[in-house]
Amino acid sequence: MQFEFTEEQLMIKQAARDFAQTELKPGVIERDEHQKFPAEQIKKLGELGFLGMMVAPQYGGSGMDAISYVLAIEEIAKVDASAAVILSVNNSLICNGLEKFGTDAQKEKYLVPLAKGEHIGAFCLSEPEAGSDATSQHTTAIDMGDHYLLNGTKNWITNGGTASTYIVMAQTDTAKKHDGINALIIEKGMEGFTIGAKENKMGVRGSDTHSIMFSDVKVPKENRIGDEGFGFKFAMKLLEGGRIGIAAQALGIASGAYELALQYSKERKAFGKTLADLQAIQFKLADMATEIEAARLMCLKAAWLKDHGQPYAQASSMAKLFASDVAMRVTVEAVQIHGGYGYVKEYHVERLMRDAKITQIYEGTSEIQRIVISREVLK
Ligand code: CAA
Ligand code: FAD
Repeated sequence: MQFEFTEEQLMIKQAARDFAQTELKPGVIERDEHQKFPAEQIKKLGELGFLGMMVAPQYGGSGMDAISYVLAIEEIAKVDASAAVILSVNNSLICNGLEKFGTDAQKEKYLVPLAKGEHIGAFCLSEPEAGSDATSQHTTAIDMGDHYLLNGTKNWITNGGTASTYIVMAQTDTAKKHDGINALIIEKGMEGFTIGAKENKMGVRGSDTHSIMFSDVKVPKENRIGDEGFGFKFAMKLLEGGRIGIAAQALGIASGAYELALQYSKERKAFGKTLADLQAIQFKLADMATEIEAARLMCLKAAWLKDHGQPYAQASSMAKLFASDVAMRVTVEAVQIHGGYGYVKEYHVERLMRDAKITQIYEGTSEIQRIVISREVLK
């Protein structure tokens, strides 16, 4: 066992940190306030290779490992959790899915521009009546011979308005239940494809979340990913990796809030000393630092298992379950340490507290992570 990063991993962490501080931090409060997508910044992150971090260079990616991915997402989320989820979806759920399971033609046509950040992808599993219960897909993809006819509505889709490529799970054969679900690649602009209104959210307000509607969309058979009926397992396999990204996002939200609280406690005076001189505050900081360290180790362990070709479903669910709870606890304490200043936008911690909550909900709620973990431990 070794607890050291390679030079390359440290360089990537530093590059992400520098980008977050210089490019993301300046407008982050305004983007949150106005629900503004960080278009310019995401474009630059694409040019730097952060949109297809783990994709092989032959498909336009950066060929990095999952450890580097965790380090980068943490640094980005410390400053802008919205940018972190935009990256996480594109890297883990879209690029990873196409690289692992796509045909050569799908990789050429869709993966290359997505990995280069020229296009953005969206992953469409959830529906108005199927969130946690993801096998109950109501969206249908009827087999018409040379194409599928797609009808239905997807809910809460991250990158819903900005994406050009959508991977959509839909039911083709209800008799086969989850084995009758297909994963289809849809392009924005296909006839019958509509984007719903943008959701007005509590947190990650810079990311755009929309419902997506399909009305008799003709999807060519060559746009199906994997064999007939592979769609549900495809989604589950991808979520194993996606949950590492969201765990790293939660870790970044927690460590971003902690760094701000630590700094503030050294500057703010009360009762003739700094807050950092008060044992009550010291103990809060000690607990925050300890929990963050544990969350970080869990994220890195899940990433290490993925990099080494070992099973990582349990580790990624554990990392997400733990890190998202840590994000909630730490951000609440960071606001507390800031006192009244923590309650206003200029000090960033109130935003991080709002951003933290979603990490307990998307890519499987904390209850769903417990289902996945308990099934693994009881195997
Ligand atoms: N890999 C491969 N196959 C898997 C799998 C995995 N990780 N997990 C399950 N499967 C297979 C099972 O083996 C089973 O196949 P067989 O019948 O052939 O054995 C099939 O999938 C169905 O699995 P279950 O019987 O376990 O199904 P279930 O109905 O009990 O539910 C669940 C499983 C874990 C609860 C699943 O529905 C789930 O993960 N729900 C949460 C959905 C979710 O995470 N949504 C996230 C949307 S994306 C998002 O949120 C993005 C974002 O915000 C940014
Ligand atoms: P429900 O499934 O209705 O759950 C409600 C409550 O019941 C939860 O607390 C849940 O944990 C609990 N519950 C449900 N079933 C059980 C059970 N069996 N045991 C114990 N408790 C249970 N989805 C996508 O497909 N793509 C995206 O890009 C995407 N991005 C999102 C972005 C945002 C901002 C949000 C809010 C959501 C996003 N989602 C996305 C959807 C997200 O994954 C779902 O909201 C989530 O999976 C929960 O589903 P639900 O909202 O339908 O809640």
